[in-house]
Parts: sequence; C-alpha cells; structure tokens
Amino acid sequence: MLRTDLYGNKLSTTNSTAIARLDEATELLLGFRADPLAAVDAAIAEQPDFAMAHAFRAGLMAMGMEEGGVAEAEASIAAAWDIPRMTDRERAHLVAAQAWAEGDFATAHRRYGAIAAEHPRDLFAQQVTHAFDFFLGDAAALRDRPMAAMRDWREGEAGFSWLLGMQAFGLEENGEYGAAEQSGRMALALQPADAWAVHAVAHVMEMQGRDQEGAAFLARREQDWAPAAILAVHNWWHLALFHLERGDFARVLGIYDRAVAAGVARGEAQPAIEMVDCSAMLWRLLLRGADTGRRFAQLSAAWQKAGGEGFYAFNDLHAVMAHLGAGRDDAAAQVLGAMRRAAAGQGTNARLTRQVGLPLAEGFLAFARGDYAKAAELIAPVRPRARAFGGSDAQRDVLSLTLLEAALRGKNLGMAQVLAGERIAAKPESPLAQDLWVRAGGPRLAA
Ligand SMILES: [Fe+2]
Repeated sequence: MLRTDLYGNKLSTTNSTAIARLDEATELLLGFRADPLAAVDAAIAEQPDFAMAHAFRAGLMAMGMEEGGVAEAEASIAAAWDIPRMTDRERAHLVAAQAWAEGDFATAHRRYGAIAAEHPRDLFAQQVTHAFDFFLGDAAALRDRPMAAMRDWREGEAGFSWLLGMQAFGLEENGEYGAAEQSGRMALALQPADAWAVHAVAHVMEMQGRDQEGAAFLARREQDWAPAAILAVHNWWHLALFHLERGDFARVLGIYDRAVAAGVARGEAQPAIEMVDCSAMLWRLLLRGADTGRRFAQLSAAWQKAGGEGFYAFNDLHAVMAHLGAGRDDAAAQVLGAMRRAAAGQGTNARLTRQVGLPLAEGFLAFARGDYAKAAELIAPVRPRARAFGGSDAQRDVLSLTLLEAALRGKNLGMAQVLAGERIAAKPESPLAQDLWVRAGGPRLAA
C-alpha cells in the first residue's frame, strides 16, 4: 500500500522512518533552515530506493542555480531513474530536474509548474516552482501560483502559511504592496519563523522607501529569520540596504563583514546566491563613493574560486561587478568571454545572456572605465526587460542606480531627471532618492 508525506502526497515507499526524514527535509527547506540536504540524505540512507527523496535532492540542486549542482542533480536522477513502482508525481519531479541539469531552465520551469498545478499540496513543488518563477522573472506566477494552490488547503492548517509567505512575495513583485504586506503579516502570525514571509514584508518596505521602519522590523524579528541559514545572508543584506538608504556606511560595512560576506573574508567561496548579495552591496557602495577597503579584492577572488561562469547570466553580472570593483580587468574579461560563449550557445541561459546579461555586463564595464555615455547607452534599453534574467525588483534596482549615476556623471541630465523622478515618486521619504533628485537638478523637497 502506498504511503503519503505529511501533506498527503503519495509516495512509492512505505518506510515510515524514511518518509519522516523527507518530511523533515521539506519543512527545513520551507523555513530555509539548515540542513535539508542532510535530512534527505538520511532518508536515502534509510531507504536507498526512495524515488521522491532522490527527486527532492535533485530539485534542491536546481534551486541553487549553480553549475556546481549539476553533477549532483544528475547523480540523484540516475540513482532514481530505474526504480520500479514510482508514482507519476515522483517521476515528474525527476523529469523536471533533468531539464534543469541539461541547461533547459525554461522546460524545467514549465514542468515544475505543471506539478505544482496538479498537486497543490506538494509544497516542495510549490517552492521549487516559486524559485524558478524568480530565476526566470515570471512575476505574475510568483503571485498567482501560491494563490491557486491555496484552493486545496484549509486556512490555518499546518503548512498553509508557507503559501501565504510565497504569495506575499509574489504580490510584492507585482507592485501590490498593501496586499503583499497583509499576506506576509498573516503568514507570520501563523508561523513567526517564516523567513520568506519576513523577507516579503522587508521587500515592501524597501520598495516604498520605508527604510527606518524596515530596519526596525528586521531588527525586531531577528530571532525569527537569522537562524534560517539558507536565507539569513539575504535578509542581512536587506537590513544593510535599509541602512545604506540613509548613507550609514559604517553600519552597512559592519553587517557586510559580520553576516553577508563572512566566508568571503576568510578566503572561501560562498554559494553564488550569497555572493550576488555581496557584489550588489559593494557595487552600491562604490556608486556612493564609499571606501570599501579590500573587500572587492576578496570578493573577486571568491567568485573566481567558485567558477561556473556562463551558467546563469544573473550570477555572471554580479561576478563582473566584483571584478570591476576590484580593478581586475583580466578577471572581468574572463567572465565576459564566458558570457559571450554562453550567448552563442544553446539552452535558456544563452537567451538570458544575449538579451539581458551581456549588454548589462558591457554597460557596467563601460561605467567602470568612466565611459558614462556608453554605459547609459548599453544599460538603458535593457533595464525595462531585465526582469527576464531573474532577481527581485530590489536586486535589479542596482541597474537603475548605476544607470542614474552614469547619467549624472555623463551630464545626461534629461535621463537623470527621469530616473530620479521615478525614484522620488516611489520613495518620497528616502534620503538617497532625495539626494539623487537634487543632483539631477530637481528642487529640494520640503521636509
Ligand atoms: Fe530580497
């Protein structure tokens, strides 16, 4: 007889100990807690032919969006491929992960989305799909899929709150800030340790320029999100971002050193998803003229150590930022070379690199060389379509900030005024927005 996981999804194993380990891995991942990989490996040790455990492992690698995870994903898929009596859902997970491992992110995205639609109670499928919606810039799906899955849940039922947290982030990425904050706060009322829901509310405050409130919100809830090891770096990054808005560089660098780039400072490569935050923070500091000491050099070395250029354009652009900030043209040229080869190749990343990643990387290179007119010329046309290569609105704001700085330094005041006007309209209280507005020639606003 078939058994089910905690949420009622059928599994092809009857080993209750192995199922308990898989449930544990699922819960840990939903809460971004360490260590879902260890938990799923324990499930596999308990039941080596547990198809869903292997599929979970492969999906976990896909969520990392790094080339280093491909071989691991392939090994997990191969270990499960010939297991007899697999459920259709388990098979579908394997086939979706397979597409990712082959570099066909778009097909993986579609397949995971189909599982999520067919199995609203498969929270792992919901979470992996949410990650792909994020990586490939499908903002509407970030909002709508969790909402569609809710039809199969009772409000307040254990597990339901994770969907609310996902929905909150999706609403936020669609600019529905009021509804996003409401969903995020509802999720947190049900599950205070939902680091993704905390993150969604922080995003709302970021996008509305509520920097003091945002910093206080994150500081007050630190015990809820800081232990969520898989997301903690990113939430620390958000806290630093709030302080950056007011130009409190010492505080920003304190958080950066302690909680965002601690591994990088020790000479280690951190996961790409974390080094993206390191790059983005240092680059924003560079735009502001802050002294970042040796941090760019350390980060540049860490990106180089990690390798994997040409796998995902969003990561590549951030590696380029680190190399340019470090003044290492050789390393930047190496990544740009890998991006050009990727752009000429096959797979989803070829398209993302061609259409978004490469022109942006070339624009950032021009900026670093002081060719501000060329930087603006390269970045401006890509900015409206940059969502396609992933990241959040807040992460991609580094594009707008760089473009605005290029326009200001290149004396393109027409462009600078449009961009500064856009920012001051979104964040009227933000000291940074006000400063940029005045630099672009706008009248100083009444306090
Ligand atoms: Fe974020």
